[in-house]
Amino acid sequence: MSRIAVIGAQWGDEGKGKVVDFLAEGMDVVARYSGGPNAGHTVIINGTKYILHLIPSGILRKGTTCVMGNGMVVDPESLLEEMEQLRSLGVYIGENLLISESAHVIMPYHKKLDALNERVKGKKQIGTTLRGIGPAYSDKASRIGIRMCELLDRDVLREKLEFNLKLKNTLIEHFFGERGYSFDELYEKAISWGEELKPFIKNTTSFMKEAVSSGKSILYEGAQGTMLDIDHGTYPYVTSSNPTIGGISTGLGVPPTAVDQVVGVVKAYTTRVGGGPFPTEETGAIGDELRNKGGEYGATTGRPRRCGWLDLVALKYAAWVNGLNYIAVTKLDVLDGFDTIKVCVAYEIDGEITEEFPTNHVSFMKAKPVYKELPGWSGSVKGISDRNKLPKEAVNYVNFIAENMGVKVLLVSTGAERRETVVFE
Ligand code: IMP
Repeated sequence: MSRIAVIGAQWGDEGKGKVVDFLAEGMDVVARYSGGPNAGHTVIINGTKYILHLIPSGILRKGTTCVMGNGMVVDPESLLEEMEQLRSLGVYIGENLLISESAHVIMPYHKKLDALNERVKGKKQIGTTLRGIGPAYSDKASRIGIRMCELLDRDVLREKLEFNLKLKNTLIEHFFGERGYSFDELYEKAISWGEELKPFIKNTTSFMKEAVSSGKSILYEGAQGTMLDIDHGTYPYVTSSNPTIGGISTGLGVPPTAVDQVVGVVKAYTTRVGGGPFPTEETGAIGDELRNKGGEYGATTGRPRRCGWLDLVALKYAAWVNGLNYIAVTKLDVLDGFDTIKVCVAYEIDGEITEEFPTNHVSFMKAKPVYKELPGWSGSVKGISDRNKLPKEAVNYVNFIAENMGVKVLLVSTGAERRETVVFE
């Protein structure tokens, strides 16, 4: 298992940070391939909490090189802040971090436009993280985006920024009626980001080619989750990138054959932040209990997460689109104390029962869950790290998920700390 992908199997916030950190031990490379600072990966080591938004979680392991791939969108302001925070906690950041020169830059106007776009959508708001993700990927697709390497070239940057500001300021001032941006201010800022980040900006495709060719162990770190994928998720309530497996190839410049095993991270129940359909959502006491016990508040925005039971229809779909071999089940301890645990095994849509995940989002909006009830366990699984100490109902629950998804269980997480992990395989 030398080249492993870790991918969110739900709507993000599955606990990928902890799983990546756990698996990163001894890995030569940890590489992120999609998304930007909309992610918030939390890792707790000996009581110290590290929250990573852009930098791969592998930065917390000595001897690991971290790569931010071309498929990412990078906000230099937030990256510099994150570097400073990690350094203040004693984390070394130097030649162990590489940022793709072709990753796109999130500019301040992207963040502003993210907020303004949300405002005009009114009730149909996506509930984005307001980090400028959608507008930055839109510019990438429109072929006007600014890439990291362009921060290092004064002339190219001037030309690109002048052009972009003409467009953005027209939109911001004349459509939204807000104040636009001054070229001089933004240009100087961008030049100074380039100067600070220069040592990290590299040809990461070439680095990855060398890493793959020389047989290095690689962990591909997913951000967000399958259901937030722009192509395979619950469009339009999705992010603007491909967190699913295909994003690894496009977002790092490695062939699909450079992935040996795919681990889907599955929270033992379901959460979602922002708008959009969520068939198993519990809006009453059960939802509150899951939120309180699970500390379900966004690592990036602090927003309370919507909570509900596990959705196996969506998980089986995630197993297929990502080719999952394994799952890592997180936050099992949050289900302590429930007499019975519900699992959605099918949807009812317009009176028809289906186990197939609808790719027609209009149908998915109407999906109602069909539940199977499984017995809960007595006592607590919190902090257990020995498989034999898990109650048999807890093991049965995890095996039920894995069998239905057609995958093996790699590990189960029973708490936020590194050591609160039960290794199955
Ligand atoms: P954006 O990625 O900020 O454009 O947000 C689009 C949707 O994806 C919103 O519903 C966000 O709440 C959600 N989202 C983006 N990143 C994450 C994440 O890391 N975890 C959970 N949800 C996310």
